[in-house]
Amino acid sequence: MSFPIVRHRRLRSSAAMRNIVRENSLSVHDLIQPIFVTVGHNIKEEIPSMPGVYHFSLDRLDEELHEIAALGIQGILLFGVPDSKDEVGSSAYDDNGIVQQATRRVKALYPDMLVIADTCLCQFTSTGHCGVIHHDPNTGRADVTNDESLALLTKTAVSQARAGADIIAPSNMMDGFVAAIREGLDEAGLSHIPIMSYSVKYASAFYGPFRDAAHSAPQFGDRKTYQMDPANAREALREAESDVIEGADFLMVKPALAYMDVIQLLKQNYDFPIVAYNVSGEYSMIKAAASKGWIDEQAIVMEMLVGFKRAGADIVLTYFAKDAAGWLKQK
Ligand code: PBG
Repeated sequence: MSFPIVRHRRLRSSAAMRNIVRENSLSVHDLIQPIFVTVGHNIKEEIPSMPGVYHFSLDRLDEELHEIAALGIQGILLFGVPDSKDEVGSSAYDDNGIVQQATRRVKALYPDMLVIADTCLCQFTSTGHCGVIHHDPNTGRADVTNDESLALLTKTAVSQARAGADIIAPSNMMDGFVAAIREGLDEAGLSHIPIMSYSVKYASAFYGPFRDAAHSAPQFGDRKTYQMDPANAREALREAESDVIEGADFLMVKPALAYMDVIQLLKQNYDFPIVAYNVSGEYSMIKAAASKGWIDEQAIVMEMLVGFKRAGADIVLTYFAKDAAGWLKQK
């Protein structure tokens, strides 16, 4: 009778044994909580497709920030839901826009809290697209114009940074957006503000609940002419490469769960902090299954989050940040 020569189970024999051989761990410092801010008064409204995630008006933001800070979470990602939209998304770069106001408020209340501003136009344009639409008179085709959109995106970034944002996170996937924003920030005397580029952002159905939350669904067509094809991985290296050349400080992969290979690919190829965006659809799927009692929410969430770390993420943007921080504290 032959016995196994190699016995892997020796190192799994007790909790202490497993603790000393554990390769990856999740810390509260890895987590960023996204927050939706909206125009109005006394609003704390749950987003139907994202149970546990709310729209906050500025006067109700304090309670949420207090919870986040008390849990030890150091950073938030701000999404604005404006009350007016137009073709050029002008409320995105209004110095009194919702994100700018929210940023000032957060920094006044919690000066040490890192405010990451999502820099995009889709919540602010009447078309729901991430830039300005050009209608080609010859073909009748409508598409987002790249360079014209860059100018508006840059104005948005500068306005957000002037309001006090610590990090600019451009997500509109126009070519050259990092270079344009870097130049705009530098010219405005904001050379110290880092750019967290949504470098590798796929045209994903996992954003569905977010588009309900942010009222940012495209009114026609889709985002496939600017967001990446989910079938492609090597192309992610080209996207990351251009952002690095253009001066990005962080590289993000979005979504995260179905793209762990891409997170790993970026980690192996770049010495930059890698950010995983655990998006709305990933959140809602877990919430839905947990509400039916089909899965153990806490166990699944923690397994998923450490999975992002294992794949190579240094930072995780997740709607579960507060929950995870609370669970980490209990341990
Ligand atoms: C804006 C933006 C989107 C998300 C983050 N920034 C939506 C989109 O590209 O359609 C999605 C976030 C999520 O699903 O949690 N462009």
